[in-house]
Amino acid sequence: MDLTMPKKNFRPLLHSSVLSCFVLCWGTGAGILYAQNHSQNQKLRAGESNIISPKQEKSEAPKMANTIKLPEPVYKSSISVEEAILKRRSVRDFSNKKLPIELISQLLWSAQGITDKTNKFRAAPSAGALYPMELYIVSPDGIFHYIPDGHRIQKLQGDDLRQDLANACWGQNFVAVAGISIIIAADYGRTTWRYGNKGIRYVDIEAGHIAQNIHLQSVALNLGSVPVGAFNDKAVKSLLKLPAAQQPIYVIPVGYPVRETLLPETPENEK
Ligand SMILES: Cc1cc2nc3c(=O)[nH]c(=O)nc-3n(C[C@H](O)[C@H](O)[C@H](O)COP(=O)(O)O)c2cc1C
Repeated sequence: MDLTMPKKNFRPLLHSSVLSCFVLCWGTGAGILYAQNHSQNQKLRAGESNIISPKQEKSEAPKMANTIKLPEPVYKSSISVEEAILKRRSVRDFSNKKLPIELISQLLWSAQGITDKTNKFRAAPSAGALYPMELYIVSPDGIFHYIPDGHRIQKLQGDDLRQDLANACWGQNFVAVAGISIIIAADYGRTTWRYGNKGIRYVDIEAGHIAQNIHLQSVALNLGSVPVGAFNDKAVKSLLKLPAAQQPIYVIPVGYPVRETLLPETPENEK
């Protein structure tokens, strides 16, 4: 009998115990990290935008008082997505007619509405499902903040500041006439804490996704819209009293067009 055998076997046993211990500790640590991230994401998706990143100030949490439940969005229309793409044009001539709440609801849903109730995923894609955007509307009835969870808006103040917004957009006066303007604001930190500098690009791309949804939804509602990127960032931020972490990216006036958008001539239309 070779008495050295157990001794020989001991080393691999020791190695595998150390390895198991390492894997167990690493697994537990990763699990805790995953659970923390997952719970943070769930809260973000639920619209609890005060839980953003470890650096976010607690005082920036939006107050949830004064919220208005929006009408249920509709999921069918008489226009195909292809026709909406074909008809979309930047519209700058608006009639000064108020938009009914049903249309405002539909526009906000198309931009950031929750389309997967289980995972709280939204109408527009988002890198890592981190949802860095906050939407505001400037309307004749005041300024409102959109809360995707529960499809609600929160009234922030009650004056018609559309002319002030137009002034902040370097005097683009159609902004003062459009029924509403949707402002897309970003909290870059919600994405950069995970993706670093690349997160800045991700957030900007995401604004484009949201804007395009608004433009196509506008066409489907027989409304006109235009993406406005030329504005004084500081002035828009101060008009909306945005929290320090949020930066305005886009102002999107939406309203009743003075003229019907003409379909471009295609073989189909010529018939
Ligand atoms: C990032 C970006 C910023 C824009 N900013 C403005 C703007 O400040 N004012 C404006 O009237 N149009 C603005 N536009 C709209 C363009 O002028 C318009 O898309 C372009 O003339 C093409 O016309 P179309 O949108 O009808 O296809 C912007 C478009 C983009 C993509």
